[in-house]
Amino acid sequence: MAKSLRPLIAANWKMNGDMSWVFKPADFAALYHAEDREHLDVLICPPATLLGSMLDPQQTGVLLGGQDCHAEVSGAHTGNVSAEMLKDAGASFVIVGHSECRAAGDTDAAVNAKAKAAARAGLTPIICVGETEAEREAGKAQKVVAAQIKASVPKLKSFVIAYEPVWAIGTGKTATPEDVAEMHDAIRALVTPKTRILYGGSVKPANAEALLALKNVNGALIGGAGLEMDSLVEIAKSAPKS
Ligand code: 13P
Repeated sequence: MAKSLRPLIAANWKMNGDMSWVFKPADFAALYHAEDREHLDVLICPPATLLGSMLDPQQTGVLLGGQDCHAEVSGAHTGNVSAEMLKDAGASFVIVGHSECRAAGDTDAAVNAKAKAAARAGLTPIICVGETEAEREAGKAQKVVAAQIKASVPKLKSFVIAYEPVWAIGTGKTATPEDVAEMHDAIRALVTPKTRILYGGSVKPANAEALLALKNVNGALIGGAGLEMDSLVEIAKSAPKS
């Protein structure tokens, strides 16, 4: 069944990759031809060291994004990159509030400021939310995610939400389609109908089709399986036509 929102298939390379990886978008484009990709957006978020060297999205049709940004434009913030710097290096998106960054200290307020910074720079923020295993077991998953959305999503014209249950990230444990559908329906009630809501957490070719077919799942944020272009192609191919 056609969906009204264009699916976004996003690979978060995390702290993986060297200069030889800058050619991977071309591999993706070669394996998955432009006409087949017309109904979706494909995004790779490489480490910031590679961003400026990656192949031009205009040539490959594969969009580029950052994995995090600082809230300020510039200044004495050793080790950080600003949203403006990511834009300058070729990004059109940036992930903010990933659970690995939240675990390292990013509060909802910090995520909110980073999302605003992304918009200021002309990037679309992908704002991540998700509960821990203990919160899910205590029956608090929806409450936790709703609170994260309230506090970490600023009023912006355009943003993407990524629901990534912390216990499903890099563990091989995927949330069931029922759990994902329930959470995405709850998130849909909090955001506008044109906001894309991605699922992330052990997405792979074997489970992508069932997850991407769900009504309020508008794409995926992929870690491990996004490092290999053939598995990223398989996942992209299983996205429903928009
Ligand atoms: P995995 O797909 O490796 O579980 O990672 C998900 C993730 O954190 C994407 O941002």
